Amino acid sequence: MKIFLDTADINQIREAAAIGLVDGVTTNPTLVSRVEGKFEDIIREICETVDGPVSAEVVSLDAAGMVEEAKKLAAIHKNVVIKIPMTKDGARAIRELKTLGIRTNCTLVFSANQAYIAAKAGASYVSPFIGRLDDAGAVGMDLIRETMQIYENYGFDTEVIVASVRHPLHVVESLMIGAHIATIPSGVFEKMFKHPLTDKGIDSFLADWEKVKSR
Ligand code: E4P
Repeated sequence: MKIFLDTADINQIREAAAIGLVDGVTTNPTLVSRVEGKFEDIIREICETVDGPVSAEVVSLDAAGMVEEAKKLAAIHKNVVIKIPMTKDGARAIRELKTLGIRTNCTLVFSANQAYIAAKAGASYVSPFIGRLDDAGAVGMDLIRETMQIYENYGFDTEVIVASVRHPLHVVESLMIGAHIATIPSGVFEKMFKHPLTDKGIDSFLADWEKVKSR
């Protein structure tokens, strides 16, 4: 499973990318609002830091506006993927952008029907938001299972990005289902490395090594 970072914070991206495990980045208007700078500059800097797909979201609600925004964003860097919301206009824009050779990530997907439409429209990626579904009292991960099954049944090549990830167990469940990608906030990425027994083990090994050194 590929790991994308779900942030627009270049420091978080640099730190995680330095380990060599980051395959791409997703942003949204909320994430971009949390960092300083012009949108285009933020996206360019991320593209120059991570060699993989970088999602940048449009804010137009009509298909023509989305396509215009998408063309400008796609011109920033070859790795920019255009995030398009799952609406009727969004589906139209995704179809049109596919004919122009511009890759899309269909976002704000909360049902299997929406995931199906995204793939049929030709989205390169689909982003079901599992954490927000959990918050609403549903089982978000069920949508990942359904989407993976539907795409397998019909041979869609749209890649499933598990989005709205809230904790490391979401990542494990994504792996067990066989999702293509999880987009992970940096706080969750940090937690994936940690286990108290690892820290305890290191401490006791180092303490015992002191005894060996002093022989
Ligand atoms: C990613 O593509 C989404 O924009 C993001 O995962 C949403 O996460 P949130 O529900 O924590 O805002």
